[in-house]
Amino acid sequence: MDSIGPVELLHGEGAPGCPQEGLSCPSDSSELECLQQFMVTGAQLQQIQASLLGSMEQALRGQTSPAPAVRMLPTYVGSIPHGTEQGDFLVLELGATGASLRVLWVTLTGFEGHKIEPRSQEFVIPQEVMLGAGQQLFDFAAHCLSEFLDMHPVGKQSLQLGFSFSFPCHQTGLDRSTLISWTKGFRCSGVEGQDVVQLLRDAIQRQGAYSIDVVAVVNDTVGTMMGCEPGVGPCEVGLVVDTGTNACYMEEARHVAALDEDRGRVCVSVEWGSFSDDGALSPVLTTFDNALDHESLNPGAQRFEKMIGGLYLGELVRLVLAHLAQRGFLFGGCTSPALLSQGSILLEHVAEMEDPSAGAACARAILQDLGLSLETSDAELVQQVCAAVCTRAAQLCAAALAAVLSRLQHSREQQTFQISVATGGQVFERHPRFSSILQETVMLLVPECDVSFIPSVDGGGRGVAMVTAVAARLAAHRRLLEETLAPFRLNREQLAVVQAQMREAMAKGLRGEASSLRMLPTYVRAVPDGTERGDFLALDLGGTNFRVLLVRVATGGVQITSQIYSIPECVAQGSGQQLFDHIVDCIVDFQQKQGLSGQSLPLGFTFSFPCRQLGLDQSILLNWTKGFNASDCEGKDVVCLLREAIRRRQAVELNVVAIVNDTVGTMMSCGYEDPRCEIGLIVGTGTNACYMEELQNVASVAGDSGHMCINMEWGAFGDDGSLGMLSTHFDECVDQASINPGEQRFEKMISGMYLGEIVRHILLHLTSLGVLFRGQQTQHLQTRDIFKTKFLSEIESDSLALRQVRAILEDLGLPLTSDDALMVLEVCQAVSQRAARLCGAGVAAVVEKIRENRGLEKLTVSVGVDGTLYKLHPHFSSLVAATVQELAPCCAVTFLESEDGSGKGAALVTAVACRLAQTA
Ligand code: G6P
Ligand code: BGC
Ligand code: BGC
Repeated sequence: MDSIGPVELLHGEGAPGCPQEGLSCPSDSSELECLQQFMVTGAQLQQIQASLLGSMEQALRGQTSPAPAVRMLPTYVGSIPHGTEQGDFLVLELGATGASLRVLWVTLTGFEGHKIEPRSQEFVIPQEVMLGAGQQLFDFAAHCLSEFLDMHPVGKQSLQLGFSFSFPCHQTGLDRSTLISWTKGFRCSGVEGQDVVQLLRDAIQRQGAYSIDVVAVVNDTVGTMMGCEPGVGPCEVGLVVDTGTNACYMEEARHVAALDEDRGRVCVSVEWGSFSDDGALSPVLTTFDNALDHESLNPGAQRFEKMIGGLYLGELVRLVLAHLAQRGFLFGGCTSPALLSQGSILLEHVAEMEDPSAGAACARAILQDLGLSLETSDAELVQQVCAAVCTRAAQLCAAALAAVLSRLQHSREQQTFQISVATGGQVFERHPRFSSILQETVMLLVPECDVSFIPSVDGGGRGVAMVTAVAARLAAHRRLLEETLAPFRLNREQLAVVQAQMREAMAKGLRGEASSLRMLPTYVRAVPDGTERGDFLALDLGGTNFRVLLVRVATGGVQITSQIYSIPECVAQGSGQQLFDHIVDCIVDFQQKQGLSGQSLPLGFTFSFPCRQLGLDQSILLNWTKGFNASDCEGKDVVCLLREAIRRRQAVELNVVAIVNDTVGTMMSCGYEDPRCEIGLIVGTGTNACYMEELQNVASVAGDSGHMCINMEWGAFGDDGSLGMLSTHFDECVDQASINPGEQRFEKMISGMYLGEIVRHILLHLTSLGVLFRGQQTQHLQTRDIFKTKFLSEIESDSLALRQVRAILEDLGLPLTSDDALMVLEVCQAVSQRAARLCGAGVAAVVEKIRENRGLEKLTVSVGVDGTLYKLHPHFSSLVAATVQELAPCCAVTFLESEDGSGKGAALVTAVACRLAQTA
């Protein structure tokens, strides 16, 4: 395809070359040669199309060096309008139409085709405001808003505003956008690099006349695209040619490196005004373009825009006319101060002068106003100049649009496709030929695309209102989400209250008074001293897995062989006899596999439930927790129950020496490596802690010297209602649905058995509010325990992109958008952070107790920890440590993750007991 466009220009008759210094036109060049500079060949247009497409794809890939010639800015608009948006919205348009801003009141009815004409008012922006301090500009905008509302009372208290800000911005949210650089005659100080929504909010605040909530900021191209009538569109490209020019389009989200998305589409503002690939542009840049750029507010920037935008077309024409006049080809070689002064020919002048019928007369009138007298042929040449400048603008714009359409073809992997392009801007409105040349050229450059051009009805005001409606809905959702999650965000004061209440309950429990903390003596008086030796059997019941272990304690250290066995729910909730027979079956199976059959090794039993210990091998189960509910066990001596099961199994010899709680086992296991380990902490299916207390403080055990390990059973903290102020509706739901309602309240806010359920109840609540999953309640989400606590750990892992979060949730059969995935992530974070901070408050209470027990300024102590939640959740452990640091700054606390679980600890307790028995 060879040269297209003002071919006819070449054949027009014309005058000799151009005289003016600096414009470096060959002195003998004729007026035709002057116009020829504006000729753009088909090959050049294709070159521009290809090079712009290349730059677009570089920018999408996030390539930074060499810096792509266009920015490709994601706009946070992820879907085109459904037409269901409704409400009344204020719209402020700044920057699209040059030295004016517009305020609109738009009512969206939510019914396709039922439209209410927006009310609008235009305000001229004084030059000194466009070039002055940023604050002045935003104050001017706020003033116009209140003037509009004074003139058009809308009788509403709080108003929602959509801000159409037509400049290149980095958007970080629907209502957060940082100005990159001014364009088009604006150059206010103190705005570039700032969030323009905040600047507008501050100005509205200063104005103080109306309470206006700025909920969305959009680029004018987005408003144009979104304003497209659903019936005629949907438009997936927004094209603006007004004072400036730019386009946006719906790109596949997975192709936008800057976004962490792999599904759906996102609107991208191309910002093609800055396209300046020398290879592609310099062949079409004329001396007039360089002159215009040189005298512009932003030399070297927006070169492409300066060949197309309405702010510049008039100036280009003026420069050419001045040149031709100075060369004697126009106005008898006379110029005028007006002709030589910048900006004296405007877009509307060009449009009028170019008009095929009235153009000549207009040209005469306009140029006479500029102090020029026209010879007969002048008007025609002036019209030719206008046509040359505007035709080139339309062709260049077409090449750019063709690049966008080719990009859409690539990203949709479609050879041919249909697309609607919404167009907006004065150049389109005032310049009928611009549109037709543009469309013709597009069809030549991308013949395989069936493009329909939809002029935007009101300059995009409705489109901005559409985005504002979506933003308002999302903002409302965000507010509902914040309200729902606020009770989970515990501050330092609230945690200090929990710490103090726990201290008080500990003191009462130790004194044997009524307390939700039973502070159970464990008869473990010392941590191992390393002289223990021998082989021991150990059982570990009460966590995620039931384990049987062979523990060999030797000079070189401790060797462990273990096997995991399952405890089916029917056994955990069956009869006690069945449960203990199952335990003995597992032991026998383990002995056979380990070749230990017939050997009666000393056995240590980690039994992770609240027990009143009467001795090391005597322990009365107080109540089941964590989903266990075997009958005929509560109030019984668990060691007896085990021994009876052994007896029932005949031919099995087992010597049960000790029974310990998993917190004690964990403390002992870690204490074997670090003698400063005096606290055991479990945060797994359940949660609990133990620590070495001064015996003199344990009312129920005789003796007042030395220490005794106390099993706090802190899972039951708050069962007396003392945690009522923190308990939420969702906690109540989980508690009521549990097999032990009213019990283990602290545990039910912290441990792995419950966090997933709390999240599920919050998601159900947010779905019922329409905040999540478009308000669709799914069977899945109504299913108990379907949202496993391990999902929290997975969803909150930093290495997991949002898309993987969505994958987890989709496996759960939840139809979700990326906003949904983000909100689910925030729900998980709120629930797990509360759990970790409450757990931290508990540990702070314990370490402060030990410090005060010993009257120390500073305490250095270690905590042995175990439990799936603590070990696997990406942030839980660090948040516990941070909370302890915050609430117990005089304690240096080290958390030791137990490697071998508490089974080893039970074996060590047994070993200590055996050592003490041998020395006794
Ligand atoms: C380890 C210990 C068990 C303890 C469990 C708690 O496995 O050996 O004694 O009960 O941790 O964590 P979990 O997440 O399994 O409930
Ligand atoms: C701005 C764009 C805007 C275009 C049309 C350009 O100068 O950089 O953001 O869309 O003008 O108004
Ligand atoms: C039990 C404790 C146990 C904790 C951790 C709680 O439900 O009551 O005895 O230490 O879970 O497993």
